[in-house]
Amino acid sequence: MKAIVVRQTGGPEVLRLEDAPDPEPGEGQVLVRVEVAAINPIEYKQRNGIVPKELPAILGSDFSGVVERSLATELQEGAEVFGFAGSGAYAELAVTPVSMVAEKPEGVSHEAAAALPVAAMTAYQALFDRGRLEGGQRVLIAGAAGGVGGFAVQLASRAGAHVIGVGSARNRDYVMSLGATGYVDYTTEDVTQAIDDVDLAFDAVGGATTQALLATVREGGTLVGIAGAMPETDPSSGIRAELLIMSPSREQLVMLADLVARDELKVEIAERFPLADAAKAHEMSESGRTRGKILLDVAG
Ligand SMILES: NC(=O)c1ccc[n+]([C@@H]2O[C@H](COP(=O)([O-])OP(=O)(O)OC[C@H]3O[C@@H](n4cnc5c(N)ncnc54)[C@H](OP(=O)(O)O)[C@@H]3O)[C@@H](O)[C@H]2O)c1
Repeated sequence: MKAIVVRQTGGPEVLRLEDAPDPEPGEGQVLVRVEVAAINPIEYKQRNGIVPKELPAILGSDFSGVVERSLATELQEGAEVFGFAGSGAYAELAVTPVSMVAEKPEGVSHEAAAALPVAAMTAYQALFDRGRLEGGQRVLIAGAAGGVGGFAVQLASRAGAHVIGVGSARNRDYVMSLGATGYVDYTTEDVTQAIDDVDLAFDAVGGATTQALLATVREGGTLVGIAGAMPETDPSSGIRAELLIMSPSREQLVMLADLVARDELKVEIAERFPLADAAKAHEMSESGRTRGKILLDVAG
């Protein structure tokens, strides 16, 4: 099969298209012909060595494709599935345990399905599993136009929360169109001056932004981060500050794809690249300016 193989850490140029051995499914696994893979920022961090990864490796988690061989009773050959690839998604073939995939609903494209797993599930788990968000509450979402943030704004809004997005000016209209009722342009405004007393702050940016968001949370409220260390909190404030590490859930894959099928969750595609142009896709992801998801068109 053709795959993007990383043999050493470095810049986007270390992502090389190679002929690689076809992966072999084990018991309880499926072999999938990948149609579309999606990029997540962790992959450029693995490529440049910020996040450790054993090499050589085929990067990538999110995919949508067709089952070519099944060693699991739950899925038959020919089933259209999406989810998390165990063996790397930047490849024509991937193997994965059946628990890490779900059937793609008819009417949901491979592009939309591939865009969901990491980003939409992280947004869901941050808001509801960790953030315990409820209708009527105020939630501040930093990185609102990104892969995770765009899903978070929509999921929070449809749960009846009042959503304030944080992003740059060019993304204001986009984030408001996803259901936000307020917006802070971090390039011209200080979020700690503009916003206070939110029930939940969700940080998908990291660094100084995580610390800044803490000041916007009401007493007894919650700060959930996904992009690095969380700040110390004053115990007398009653504020919980927690780092979420997303854990794959088949049930949540089904739920999220169902929302897309019913047109209740929109998937914004920033750009589609052919598999051979994975380096260009990484350059774009690494810029930190993406609106929505970057895809790799694997099947072509
Ligand atoms: N813990 C986990 O399980 C987990 C899971 C998924 C992702 N992550 C991490 O979460 C982070 C976000 O992931 P992602 O896929 O959403 O990334 P992404 O799509 O690359 O996010 C890009 C967005 O970030 C926005 N942004 C950049 N700087 C900002 C700032 N200072 N304030 C507000 N918005 C800002 C940009 O908007 P502007 O262009 O308007 O600035 C852009 O729309 C990454 O670090 C990723 O590794 C962690």
